[in-house]
Amino acid sequence: MSDYALELLSISCTFHSKDDPGQRYTAVADTTLRIRAGEFVSVVGPTGCGKSTLLNVGAGLLEPSSGTVNIFGKTLSGVNARAGYMFQTEALMPWRSAIDNVMVGLQYRGVPDAEARKQAEAWLSRVGLSGFGDRYPHQLSGGMRKRVALAQTLVLDPDIILMDEPFSALDIQTRQLMENEVLELWSAKKKAVLFITHDLDEAIAMSDRVVVLSAGPATHPIGEFAIDLARPRDVAEVRTQPRFVELHTQIWEVLRDEVLKGYAQQLKKAA
Ligand SMILES: Nc1ncnc2c1ncn2[C@@H]1O[C@H](COP(=O)(O)OP(=O)(O)O)[C@@H](O)[C@H]1O
Ligand SMILES: [Mg+2]
Repeated sequence: MSDYALELLSISCTFHSKDDPGQRYTAVADTTLRIRAGEFVSVVGPTGCGKSTLLNVGAGLLEPSSGTVNIFGKTLSGVNARAGYMFQTEALMPWRSAIDNVMVGLQYRGVPDAEARKQAEAWLSRVGLSGFGDRYPHQLSGGMRKRVALAQTLVLDPDIILMDEPFSALDIQTRQLMENEVLELWSAKKKAVLFITHDLDEAIAMSDRVVVLSAGPATHPIGEFAIDLARPRDVAEVRTQPRFVELHTQIWEVLRDEVLKGYAQQLKKAA
């Protein structure tokens, strides 16, 4: 069996422009990214560079124009059934209560209702929401909805967890609480995590490895850094360590120009 849970090999993604279908835009070019079983890897890069595109390729939701995706050494075709996803936007069904939202994936897999409910309740309590199962999404705070979404992802016990800027909409305190919880849950089960963020502090605080992407078009990795900070980590506390500051300085050195280029492109697109 492969050491790698997820391998993106020489991935390129070219899109037809929405405004002018004759125009093509290469978002991702020849990108290789490997994540070991149990490894927590963050990918950082400027807004619009191609982070979500890469994650969607890993999820099997988007077929790359060229390149291969391997899951535990086997070539992926179709949706990645070994992966659970958490997206930036709200993914809860507003007409279902919290517990029903957490149960739905299990029911989909054919788990009997009583068993699904039991597992969903256990996960709601693990994310600090026991007693809130009957609430509907609109009756919960943003942070609580993220907790439900986390339970919804983890209840399926995926071997690979794909997270696309999951906490970017939260206030900083709630966000740090959630980050610490994710680390705690991850350390208990050690799944492979691909964590997408544009926030370098978050990437360093959470990860074993940080990969920096260039600004688009033709995004590709331009730096890779092992994060040798001791675990367990408290994401707020770890930021004050000299080694964190050192790593931040090193990585920012690589990321800064890309962020400026990315920003200039956003302006050009909007013009
Ligand atoms: N389906 C699509 N059709 C056309 N262009 C797309 C499509 N998906 C993404 N893009 C373009 O590819 C680039 C990368 O997008 P994305 O992966 O969402 O960036 P990020 O997640 O890093 O902010 C952007 O310029 C975006 O406009
Ligand atoms: Mg994105």
